[in-house]
Order: sequence, then structure tokens, then C-alpha cells
Amino acid sequence: VSGPKVESSLETVAWVGDATTGHLRLIDQTLLPGQFVQVDCRDVPATWEAIKSLRVRGAPAIGIAAAFGTLLGGQAGLNLGIEGVRAAVKAAGSYLRTSRPTAVNLFWALDRMERVAESETTTDPVVFLERLLAEAQAISDEDKAMCRSIGRFGAPLIQPGQGVLTHCNAGGLATADYGTALAVIFSAFENGTKLRVFADETRPLLQGARLTAWELQRRGIPVTLICDNMAAQVMKERKIDLVVVGADRIAANGDAANKIGTYGVALLAKAHGIPFYVAAPSSTFDLTIEDGSAIPIEQRDPREITHSFGRATAPEGVDVYNPAFDVTPAELIAGIITERGIIRPVNTETVAEMLGIPRPAVKDYRLV
Ligand code: MRU
Repeated sequence: VSGPKVESSLETVAWVGDATTGHLRLIDQTLLPGQFVQVDCRDVPATWEAIKSLRVRGAPAIGIAAAFGTLLGGQAGLNLGIEGVRAAVKAAGSYLRTSRPTAVNLFWALDRMERVAESETTTDPVVFLERLLAEAQAISDEDKAMCRSIGRFGAPLIQPGQGVLTHCNAGGLATADYGTALAVIFSAFENGTKLRVFADETRPLLQGARLTAWELQRRGIPVTLICDNMAAQVMKERKIDLVVVGADRIAANGDAANKIGTYGVALLAKAHGIPFYVAAPSSTFDLTIEDGSAIPIEQRDPREITHSFGRATAPEGVDVYNPAFDVTPAELIAGIITERGIIRPVNTETVAEMLGIPRPAVKDYRLV
């Protein structure tokens, strides 16, 4: 049975034009769902600002934006000859690395760009930038393919009539297209599986309310928005059969960092006997770190809590703590849905096995 026809892809992050004069185009996610506006980034600081301020956000999407962003750096050095362009690309990469610390996809994508920049032997700056554009485009295309594959592997986890809880936004807006956690839901729905999604609003910046609810609605998928603090009650009422979330960085043992609040959802799922799944491409794994304790947690501006969306919601001068991510320990994760298959159970051995890295090699890799 084929499911309802759904809305086509979003152009979350794309390159417009050729390598030497083109630019980056993004959906400005800070304006959704009220306004759908695309913004153009024509230099590295604009790209950095777009990532920092969450105009583009979600682990794979920021990696792709940064990869394209290095080209903007290279363009500015075009009249400096091949070594000048190479240096400008490298400097752009170094700067973009400082935009956000948690999502490893950012560093993974910039590492790929840097490897190409370092190894490219052409002496023609134009050819050099064309080669970099091809690599950034490949990162984006591969992400699209990985998301589709995650959807295919994850879809059978959802049984007809089930309720699925998700947190934050791991949809098309967080990737090149189609998403990770939402790919599982989209794919099940497209296969004709009747389901209902419960979307946590995701304090303080409401990615669940503003972005996930919007993405599901535009595809005609039944979605019910809840405040984060309602999840326990909704689980107790047996409305949730499965939880699926994305990830920003997964350690070698399967501990997974995701949007703040995810760890709490995982604990609640455990308490109610509900399977908790993480969906993520291989670009989200960081096998250089043994467990989640080494994942850097981004600390964000207190005003995101005291002045949510412009209005004062706390007394002036109050102390605020605003970590943007938390780490869910592997033992709370029923499985990690990757583009290669589902890692289940989740531990160092099964992660290494799925990613094609034998256990001893994980140790070797950490030493590099
Ligand atoms: O701060 P954000 O909005 O970039 O946080 C995003 C998330 O936590 C997503 O769940 C994660 O990046 C997975 S994206 C497929």
C-alpha cells in the first residue's frame, strides 16, 4: 500500500552559482514557522553568524553550510594566487570551527574540505575552487542519501496505529533533506503506516514547535504538540509507543549528545518501558572519544531563557544556566538507526562493527 502523496523536499542549505562567484543560500530557520525566507551568505562572517544564530541548525546542515562557507573564504583570496586561495580556505575553515562546539558533523565536514584543500595539486585557483565546490556538494548529496537510508531502516520500527515522540528537530531542516529521526517517521508514513507524532516543543528555542510541527504538518502527518514537561504524563497515558530523536555527536560507546532535554526523555521512556531510538548518519559518530563525558556541551546566551523571542520572561539580573545539549548514556538507547543499519544493542563493539571499524582499530584511531 502506498501512503499519501507528500510535499517535496526543502532546500535547507544550497550553493547558488559557480565556484568563483556563487554563494550560499539558506532557509532562515529563526523566522519559521511565521515566515519562509531564504537568506544569502556571501562571505565567511555571514556564514559563521548564520550557524551561530541558528538560521541554519541541526548537525548535518551546519556541516554542509560550513563546507560551502569555506568556498566563500577562497573567493575572497582569488587574486592572491593558488597558495593565497589555499590559505584563505584554511583560514575560513578555522574560523567556522569556532561557530558551535557540539555537533561533530561541523568538524567532520570541515576536515573533509581541508583534506581536499591540502591535497589538491592544481596551480589554477579557479580549478581549485571548483574542486572544493565538488567536495561540498558531495557532502550534501551523501547526506541526502544517508537520510533516505536511515528512513528505510527505521520505518519498520513503527507499527500501525502507534504514537511516536520526538524532541527538537531532526528533519529536513536539520539535514540536506529528509532528516534523521523524522526520516524514520516520513518513511513509515509514506509506506502507509498510520501513526501519530507527539512533538516536544523543545525549550528554550522551540525547534520542536516551530520546525518539527511545521515539517510534519506540511507533509500531512498527524502531529500533536506538547510542552516538554508534559512528556511523562503523555507516556503514562500510554499515548507513546516509541521515541526517536536525532544526535549531534555519538561517542565510540554509543553515548549520544542531542538537544537539551533528550536525556530526560530517555529516562522517562525507560521508566515507562518505551523503546528510545536515536537516528544518525555515520558523520555524527566521533570515534575519537570513548564515551559521552568528553563531548563538549555548548553554552548559549542566557537571554534565550530570560527573553525568549524578545519578551522578558524572567526578572532582570537572575542567574541563568543554558546548556544547549545533554548526553544520553548508551544503556538508555534501544538502538541507533544509521544509514548502514540499526546498531542494537548499543555498545562499543556494536558501534565499531556497524561502522566497519574492528575494536582494536578504534583504539588506534584514538591515538592519532
Ligand atoms: O541547536 P540545534 O537546533 O542545532 O540542535 C539540533 C538538534 O539537537 C538535533 O536533534 C540534531 O542536530 C540532530 S539533526 C538531524
